[in-house]
Amino acid sequence: MATFGNFIKKSAAALAIAGLTVSTAMASTTLRLAHNLNQEHSVHKAFEYMNEQLREISGGEMRIRIYPSSQMGDGPETLQMLQTGALDMTKGSGSDLEAFEKAYAVFNLPFLFNDEQHFSDVVYGPVGKEIMEMTKDRGFFSIAAYEAGYRSFYAGKPIRSPEDLQGMKVRVQASPTTLEMIRLLGGAPTPIPFGETYTALQQGVVDSAENNEPSYVDTRHVETSRYFSESQHASIPDFLTISNSTWDRLNEEQRDWLMEAAKRSETYQNKLWAEAVADARAAAEELGAEFIQVDKTPFQEAVAPMLDDFRKDPEQGRILDMILDVAKG
Ligand code: GCU
Repeated sequence: MATFGNFIKKSAAALAIAGLTVSTAMASTTLRLAHNLNQEHSVHKAFEYMNEQLREISGGEMRIRIYPSSQMGDGPETLQMLQTGALDMTKGSGSDLEAFEKAYAVFNLPFLFNDEQHFSDVVYGPVGKEIMEMTKDRGFFSIAAYEAGYRSFYAGKPIRSPEDLQGMKVRVQASPTTLEMIRLLGGAPTPIPFGETYTALQQGVVDSAENNEPSYVDTRHVETSRYFSESQHASIPDFLTISNSTWDRLNEEQRDWLMEAAKRSETYQNKLWAEAVADARAAAEELGAEFIQVDKTPFQEAVAPMLDDFRKDPEQGRILDMILDVAKG
């Protein structure tokens, strides 16, 4: 007999196969979110906070199950899972996203932002929103963005100028823009997934990596690379991305709940960030790390040709100009 109970069970089974989990007991919707950062990271904490908020706003009808530490793969893999509908949400860094939409390449340009205000005005303003929605025809889009500070080089020796990078193998994310930046600085760029970088540094597969302070410490890269040279060459945000197939299955009310929880997670993470950087610096120094002030000018000069190259693509030029215009106010 086609009872209502059977109907619920069948619908739940269909949705579970498609990626969404519906518990029959509570008729709740659970979205799966996988990412490559560990549980200490402010973005992971923001995702936990988002789950709490979502449960509250939805009266227990919606929740998020989080899979941290690359359990389901690195950024590029989990983004592909969104495209196939095998996963509901992930965190894509601006670097990972460049392979899916060239507009994201702009975030990987070195020395792009004048200061933190410029970064926030772009990322949390209309320009950021436009870029975040550009992948809608590719199976996913971004619904929140998180601060990721400044990336700097670290290695077993100080890197005070591009000369110090000559011939060094530098671990990078799989972003063509970042690869080009390292080449112009004289290094040999080596793309390696985030979760495999510690071993690569330890075994000498690469001589150096570049990241912000929290990732330098959370990943224990600090153990292999004592000198953190403050080139501050890039500020690349992290994005919360959702699969189109998941979004399409949510009703209007569920979408509103999710967007509200995502917004709150942004504010929460932004508040945590400065303290996360300060804590990471203190922890690194305790472990024997040295923070080295560097003159950024020779780094900036070496990568200057990238801006002209970038403008050769009119669409990329348009986005770059919008970003530079934001700073003009
Ligand atoms: C940062 C960023 C991550 C990224 C990582 C990397 O830590 O927050 O999103 O994956 O750098 O270098 O791969």
